Amino acid sequence: MSMTMIKDGIYSAAFLHEMLETTSNLYRLGWDERNGGNISYLIHEYEVLPFLNVDDVKRTVAMNFDASPLAGRYFIVTGSGKYFKNVKKDPANNLGIIRISAEGKSYEILWGFEDGGIATSELPTHLMNHMKRLAVDKNHRVIMHCHATNLIAMSFTHSLNEIEFTKTLWEMCTECLVVFPEGVGIIPWIVPGTNAIGEATAEKMEEVRLVLWPHHGIFGAGSTLDETFGLIETAEKAAEVYTIVCAQGGKKQTLTDQQLLELAHAFNVVPRKGILKL
Ligand code: 13P
Ligand code: ZN
Repeated sequence: MSMTMIKDGIYSAAFLHEMLETTSNLYRLGWDERNGGNISYLIHEYEVLPFLNVDDVKRTVAMNFDASPLAGRYFIVTGSGKYFKNVKKDPANNLGIIRISAEGKSYEILWGFEDGGIATSELPTHLMNHMKRLAVDKNHRVIMHCHATNLIAMSFTHSLNEIEFTKTLWEMCTECLVVFPEGVGIIPWIVPGTNAIGEATAEKMEEVRLVLWPHHGIFGAGSTLDETFGLIETAEKAAEVYTIVCAQGGKKQTLTDQQLLELAHAFNVVPRKGILKL
């Protein structure tokens, strides 16, 4: 591609600005301390072409799993060990645009990670989740991980049964059932950054868009950064209400199963089976 086709640089790309806003918001809310959290956002080639010469590969980084179903796909992704606090003031060191290579065992850095950085250590989970969500949702584009405070706290004090955990969140705010009718998936504690935690998370992502990593954080999936952020925000708000309810001495009354069912009917959503006892 001739350089004359390239617009006034990547800094005018909407997807980059969305990443800056989202990482700033996650930091502002206290869900991404230090280098906590990571995001990957699938961008279409036609969105990248106006800003980058995609034949100019800066570096190639090996991966120890097979991402060949995503070969040729582009992602803007946060860097490993990078602080969300710093993304907005220094995007080129903290973010990267990568393309999964043709054989699926490495990725090519096309922009960013300028100080020699690489994509998040949770890339296996991100890519495995992208594969799983794309198979069930053609509009899927975003995987987001953060250390949402009250959801982590709940993983110490609440049962880790998915049905019970989801039911508690649904009860805490009326909007929850509408926003995540399929509920929350929960995996066992597994060492982060491994293929094993990626596989366990992706297995859950076939059915749900929210997966809790006990004593660690949450993964969300969605079609836009806003929608995925909103999904996590809604679950975290419910967890915060749960924290306060417990601190105030526990529930004296709650949303009933009948009310939750009425809500589902009113908003035309199908609640995950086995939660409402009606
Ligand atoms: P990265 O800095 O590699 O993205 O890791 C942060 C994290 O939250 C690990 O789970
Ligand atoms: Zn984490």
